[in-house]
Amino acid sequence: MIQVLPAAPKIGAEIQGVQVKGMDDATFREVYQAFLDHIVIVIRGQDLTEQDFIDFSARFGEIKPHMTKKAHHPRYPELMLMDNRILDTRTGEQTQNASPLLVRVGNVWHTDTSYEYVTAKATGMYAINVPSVGGDTLFTNMYAAYEALPASLQQKLEGRSATHIYGGRLKRQQDRLEEENKNRAPAIHPLTPVHPETGRKSLYFNDGQILNIIGLDQADSDAVIADLAQRTASANGDYRHHWQRGDVVIWDNRCSIHCATGDYPANERRTNWRSTVMEFGWQQQAAKTA
Ligand code: SIN
Repeated sequence: MIQVLPAAPKIGAEIQGVQVKGMDDATFREVYQAFLDHIVIVIRGQDLTEQDFIDFSARFGEIKPHMTKKAHHPRYPELMLMDNRILDTRTGEQTQNASPLLVRVGNVWHTDTSYEYVTAKATGMYAINVPSVGGDTLFTNMYAAYEALPASLQQKLEGRSATHIYGGRLKRQQDRLEEENKNRAPAIHPLTPVHPETGRKSLYFNDGQILNIIGLDQADSDAVIADLAQRTASANGDYRHHWQRGDVVIWDNRCSIHCATGDYPANERRTNWRSTVMEFGWQQQAAKTA
C-alpha cells in the first residue's frame, strides 16, 4: 500500500510502497497528488534503465531536452547526464578527479530553467553514483517564502515581473552554451505567480539567473534582488535530501528552489540522470503567446 511520509515540516515527502516501473494509473494519481502537496517527492530503491526513467518523468509532463547540448546523455538526449567526471558528454572523456567546477554544479539556490521563455514545471533526478559523504541537495518551499515576506514587500512585488538570463547578472557559464543560445534576449516571468494547479501564490525567484525587476530603477531592483536572495538562501534549506543509489526525486520548479551542496570529495564519483519536465501542451501555449 502507498504511504506518503513527510520528510520535513515545509517540503518533501518520501513515498513508500511503490515501484516506478509498471506503476498503475490509480497509484500514479496518488503519487502526483503527493507531488502537488509536498513539492518534492522521493521514491527510494529503484533499479531503472534510462527508458524507465524517461517514461516515469513523462507522466508528469512533456520532457524537454536541456538547452546545453553538452550535458545531454549521449544516447538519450531527453536526459541530462550529470557526472562530475564528464564535462562534455559528447566526447565522453573522463577525468579521475572531478574539477572543482563540476563538483559544485548547481551549488547556488535556483529553480531550473528560469532563463527559458517557458520554464520547467518539474525536474526529475535518478541517482546512479553517490559519494560517501556530502553531495546532498537542499530544497526550499517558495509558497512559504512568499507568505513569510513582509506585507510591504509582497505589495511591492505584486503584478511585477523579472527578467532572467542564462548565467544571471554575472553571465556565468555562458561558455557552456552553444553559439545559437549565447546572448539570447532575457526571459520575463512574474515574481509572484499563482500555481496553475494548486491555486497558491508563490515567489518565483532565482538569484543565479535573475537580471532585474521590471519597473524598478536599477538601484532599487538590485536592492530587492539582494533582499530576496538573503531571505530565500538559508544554509540548510527546508529539506536536505541525502542521496542513495536508486533514488528517484521529482520536484516542482514552480514553487521551490534547490541548491546542490557540492561538498563531496573530488575523487569520488557523483552521477545522476536528470529530466526537465514541461507542462503538457507547453509548445502550443508558447506558440499562442509568442
Ligand atoms: C540541479 O541543480 O538541478 C541538480 C541538483 C543536484 O545536482 O543536486
